Amino acid sequence: MLAMDTQATISGDRPDFSNHWMPFTANRDFHREPKMLCRAQGCHYYGERGQQILDGCSGLFTTPAGHARAEIADAVRDQLLTLDYAPSFTRGHPQSFRLASSIADLTPEGMDRIFFGNSGSEAVETALKVALAYHRARGEGGRDLFVSRERAYHGVNFGGIALSGMVPNRRAFGPAGPRVVHMRHTWLEQNRGTMGQPVHGSELADDLERLVALHGAENIAACVVEPIAGSTGVLVPPQGYLERLRELCTRYGILLIFDEVITGFGRLGHNYAAQAFGVTPDIITMAKAITNGAQPMAAVAVSREIHDTIVDAAPEGQVEFFHGYTFSAHPASCAAALATLNIYRNESLFDRARQMSAHFLERIASLQDLELVTDVRGYGLLAGVDLAPLERPGLRGHIAQKRMFDAGLHLKTTGDAAIIAPAFIMETEQIDTLIDTLRGVLVELAD
Ligand SMILES: Cc1ncc(COP(=O)(O)O)c(C=O)c1O
Repeated sequence: MLAMDTQATISGDRPDFSNHWMPFTANRDFHREPKMLCRAQGCHYYGERGQQILDGCSGLFTTPAGHARAEIADAVRDQLLTLDYAPSFTRGHPQSFRLASSIADLTPEGMDRIFFGNSGSEAVETALKVALAYHRARGEGGRDLFVSRERAYHGVNFGGIALSGMVPNRRAFGPAGPRVVHMRHTWLEQNRGTMGQPVHGSELADDLERLVALHGAENIAACVVEPIAGSTGVLVPPQGYLERLRELCTRYGILLIFDEVITGFGRLGHNYAAQAFGVTPDIITMAKAITNGAQPMAAVAVSREIHDTIVDAAPEGQVEFFHGYTFSAHPASCAAALATLNIYRNESLFDRARQMSAHFLERIASLQDLELVTDVRGYGLLAGVDLAPLERPGLRGHIAQKRMFDAGLHLKTTGDAAIIAPAFIMETEQIDTLIDTLRGVLVELAD
């Protein structure tokens, strides 16, 4: 139940919308038809009128343990009153070391050197720099080319945009930043409607070998992929695809970077996609669910070999890696992350995600009979539903996410793909409500 004073706030006057320029938002449309969130609890948001909105996307893949977790709020408050800020360069504080150890307990064996940032985009930039620094430290500084993939999303900083395979994200800014070449994406007609890893398409990984032949392995620093391409609609890797990328990277001395900003921390029912798919990269980026969305934070896990190579190449007493952020390992973010990892562990939430997956994916698959649905895909507690486009790509998705909000469901759409990522604490009945609401809206939109 809402407390009375909260209720009063929710029904209070709207703020002035003119000053905040919202990110990745159709601002003019938002001003005409605002979709406001005023409160959150568990698996629900509450809007301006106090109306309940089921959170079908765990915020923005950030909040698998559910909203407003008191343990996290208490930890942040205590931390701010104990040590609110510590300069992140040349000064340490206990929480960051504790957190790094806790993350190292989750990462694949040996990937236990952890660098902190504040967003997924920063994690990606950090990973690219680590790769360049590593090759340089080994006397192979000529390796400055990165291999990415069509339909990739790696954040919005210049490195991430160069890696990006999303046309609108690149068009306005040019292919600035590092040199990048792209492999084909992994969506294939033959795999339509597949839940779990599709059968067809492992040969798409051979694009990496073609790029090696074209550009020379001695010029390639790293191959960067989201194990599941999340933001462009949940493209699950075909069976054997990641294994093949691993094999080729090892053969040609190319680092394999998994961008696990979405897939990290249990989304696939395992700590990381690396464990879910049994393929160990050299570098893992992570963010989003690291603090259950309560504080901005990101991390990059690096193999011991890469870390030691960079560190040992520098003279004693000198900074080894010229990179970092004012808010790297912010004490409040560390406290939030430590409290979050405790919740994940104490409530066995990654196991729960794995157990809930079968029901979730079965319900997602049931949407295939709808006129508007052209494809469904999913793995773990992550799914994509393609909607038949209208006259302009993205218009159907835009309209759909607004109608879903009005119907009491928050989902992310990218272009015409709806992306569903429930909290790991969601009950079976809530998953059913999610799917039923989605179905209802899609039926209405088809009329
Ligand atoms: C795979 C991946 N990398 C990087 C990012 C960028 O993260 P942020 O928005 O925190 O900068 C995202 C965000 O969705 C992502 O999905």
